[in-house]
Amino acid sequence: MKRPECALAAALALALAAAGVAAAPSPDIIPAPLKADLAPGAAPVRIVQDEPIRFAPADAEAAFVARRLAELARRSRGLRLRPTPARNDRPGPAIVLQRDAALAPEAYRLEIGAGGARITAADDAGLFYGMASLWQLMTADAERGPVALTAQAITDRPRFSWRGLLLDSARHMQSEAEIERLIDWMALHKLNVLQWHLTDDQGWRLPVPAYPRLVSVGAWRAPAPEPWRDRPPPPRYGGYYSEAQIRRIVAFARRRGVTIVPEIESPGHALPAVLAYPRFGFTGGATAADMSDWGVFPAIFDPSRATLAFLEAVLGRTMDLFPGPFIAIGGDEAMKDAWRGSSAVQERIKALGLADDTALQAWFTRQICDFVSAHGRRAIGWDDILAGAPPPSTAVAAWRSGAALAAASTGRDVVVATAPTLYFDNRQSLAPGEPPGRGVVVSLRDVYAFQPLPAGIAPAANAHVLGLQGALWTEEIRSDEELERMALPRAAALAEIAWTAPERLDFDDFTRRLQADAARTRGLGLRADAPGAPLAPTAAVLPSQALGQCSAKLPLNLEDPWLPAGAGPVDLVDILDSCWTVPPRKLDGVRGISLRLDVLPYNFELGPDAWKLVRHPPTMPAGDLTIRLDTCAGPVVASAPLPSAPHDGSAPITAALAPQTGSHALCVILAAPKLNPLWAIRWVSLGPVRS
Ligand code: ACM
Repeated sequence: MKRPECALAAALALALAAAGVAAAPSPDIIPAPLKADLAPGAAPVRIVQDEPIRFAPADAEAAFVARRLAELARRSRGLRLRPTPARNDRPGPAIVLQRDAALAPEAYRLEIGAGGARITAADDAGLFYGMASLWQLMTADAERGPVALTAQAITDRPRFSWRGLLLDSARHMQSEAEIERLIDWMALHKLNVLQWHLTDDQGWRLPVPAYPRLVSVGAWRAPAPEPWRDRPPPPRYGGYYSEAQIRRIVAFARRRGVTIVPEIESPGHALPAVLAYPRFGFTGGATAADMSDWGVFPAIFDPSRATLAFLEAVLGRTMDLFPGPFIAIGGDEAMKDAWRGSSAVQERIKALGLADDTALQAWFTRQICDFVSAHGRRAIGWDDILAGAPPPSTAVAAWRSGAALAAASTGRDVVVATAPTLYFDNRQSLAPGEPPGRGVVVSLRDVYAFQPLPAGIAPAANAHVLGLQGALWTEEIRSDEELERMALPRAAALAEIAWTAPERLDFDDFTRRLQADAARTRGLGLRADAPGAPLAPTAAVLPSQALGQCSAKLPLNLEDPWLPAGAGPVDLVDILDSCWTVPPRKLDGVRGISLRLDVLPYNFELGPDAWKLVRHPPTMPAGDLTIRLDTCAGPVVASAPLPSAPHDGSAPITAALAPQTGSHALCVILAAPKLNPLWAIRWVSLGPVRS
């Protein structure tokens, strides 16, 4: 039988729905909680200066949560709260932290009423999340000092158990302080997994004492050459995280309910390890100089017993440092040409009774997964590993569309990490001034609208979707400022769709709550600015970000790596097709076109994308600019030779435009004799030819 109050609530909900009344806005909490019951007519509850935060004296984690709330209230509101180890049997208002083993993992209750505020949870994470919700309610306005809260009872629990971000510290590193700021922000928004990408072709960041060259050699790279520059190159780039730093970061995260999932890539994305210890792999022709390239490399581990012993030592060390249940093993984008070209590898395929190199990668992955499980942990690999049959306990991070459905439907646990929507290194808008990164537009709304459960999934397979993960890949993201501007506020949208029940999701209400959240985020020392407005297409000068891409194969927002992050222009260029479109505009009386061009290193390993490259053959030896009317097959209306590669990395170019009438789009092609340097457009201006 239904309990009467449930029946009443259900009837009320039906009546409201029938009357077309929208659901009440969520309390000022991101992610929105499952349920908030207001106490109609109850007076607001004041949280006052020196109010105690009580917790059981033996409860060390509750003491930590109490101290963290006191610190947050002081910093963000100037309100002094007093963590007090004491049973809650004293008179007077208090914030109380208490345990109730009956609650689900990570769940909490937050009751705000006559006696103050009471947070109840079974586990440490639930207590922390109840605290985070109370802090957010206390900071919904910009006031300082005591705060009056609406009397209410919040009942909350997560939709998914894996609510993650990936942080790529291999391509560019972040300081310990920045990583901790990010983890703190995550926990206060109920994100609970940080996949820490510690190894890739551009750098190895994890010291393994038995293999010191991994960091002495593998952690450093020279800058991409820019021989056209008339000044010395910047110093080599690199570094690694010391054991002490890693242990501090892991402990910092653990107290906040964030599990770090370290990622050690194999068999591909292995260049630094192979350069440091050539006996464990094939460079595929890549050298140390190529470590400043991005993309998919031919370097790969040799799938030998010796290499497996090496990787076991590395993974053993990884498990010593990272106590969490999951170890990420990579497995993506392994170029196996070197295996095909090695008679020793071909012999091994035969000796193992395998069909081909795909089966060999599957065998290799299985050895790694078995080693991880033999040590009481679970492996998680990119969905590429589904090509072989990894052990059933291996989870999959689905980065390609279709992979989440394929994994979950075959009974495998999956974390949905789909590109491009959950790749937060993509730009957020068409506005100029966005940080460098990938060029697909992934707006806040796109992230919020992302459907965690893949279309077509059978209800029985839903439980295999562990959750969601957004990625902060850092090929182009070189500074804390760039990282934060890419992560935020989209990570807040991710937090909400990963935590909040789908029926509670409401983008407009989310953006309302985001206003206060931006202020809180700034208070935590992070940037939280939404991108600016895109320029009107009628603007006199169009930055590259306002131009179209002819084929949008691999557009990137690029910054000159020889300049400090943020110091130079950011140009949007398709590295597979140097072709842009100018949106239609009136050309009557327009006699010329001016462009500002930049030259950048073409430091991309195209791997399996090489066939997509579009080459525009130049008609002049140093290359040329060609502009066509309406489409890229239209008549040529302007052309000019490219200047020689400029010493300061930038050059103006102008061309006379054949007279036109009416509105027309333009197709702009930069044809250079070689891929390197890469010519990019900074801006285009239509008007009289200026000298
Ligand atoms: C990936 O983007 N290669 C996981």
